[in-house]
Amino acid sequence: MDMKAARPVIIAGNWKMNTTPASAGALASEIARATEVDGVTRVLCPPFVALAAVRDALAGTGVEVGAQNVHAEVAGAYTGEVSAQMLAGLASWAIVGHSERRRDQGESDELIGRKLVRCVEQGLRPILCVGEQLEEREAGNAEDTVRVQLERATAEVRRQGSELPPDLVVAYEPVWAIGTGRTARGSDAAVMAQLIRLVLDESGIEGGAENVPVLYGGSVTSAAIDEFLAEPDIDGALVGGASLKVDEMAGIVARAGMTASARRQTKDGAA
Ligand code: PGA
Repeated sequence: MDMKAARPVIIAGNWKMNTTPASAGALASEIARATEVDGVTRVLCPPFVALAAVRDALAGTGVEVGAQNVHAEVAGAYTGEVSAQMLAGLASWAIVGHSERRRDQGESDELIGRKLVRCVEQGLRPILCVGEQLEEREAGNAEDTVRVQLERATAEVRRQGSELPPDLVVAYEPVWAIGTGRTARGSDAAVMAQLIRLVLDESGIEGGAENVPVLYGGSVTSAAIDEFLAEPDIDGALVGGASLKVDEMAGIVARAGMTASARRQTKDGAA
């Protein structure tokens, strides 16, 4: 069986620090209505305070709800923080290790590894973000950077006595492409997706890395997504700014639907 054809196509929207509990439900509903396309897994990640409103708005639409972060500990004296278990009934996905948190909260790969463990315990499907800085790419170190990020996080998961979740999703997000209007090249992102699966295979991920969806993130728009979805190694996108715009999400998911349908045909043809 062609395992590539079996991987799902996923479009996840990261709303970051935008929307309010009062505005988020309506936006989520509009996006759900505008993105009814076969074969695409859709996920919206609003701020914590809007999770309940978005969950209610998305009930019955097939669009899933994700958190933008979880704390590395289960519970305790961590003022202002949100643990994975607090998300029960609110979210089924969680973004972990986003570059804005690595940058602003100084999140290390080891801390991110512990967050992955919390996701596993809670049954949250993690979207683990990795990606290099511009200087690292210019110095020819992009692949080493991503390899080390994955290896360190994975080693920490093991140190905690846990395993990488078999439903792991990885988002390759070059930091220089996030919010800048500048995207990576599809071919560079595909090389990185191959490296990500290689490193996950080396780590012994259950079920093998061939089944792990790898998304691209960084200034994805309906106009820019094409060259990423044209790459068989890339299984969708983590979308920031454009995920707040209904028309943009409609265009992005429509394009993803074409990839999903082409993959189904390849799979059926191969069966
Ligand atoms: P962007 O953000 O699409 O606004 O560049 C992507 C992300 O940070 O996940």
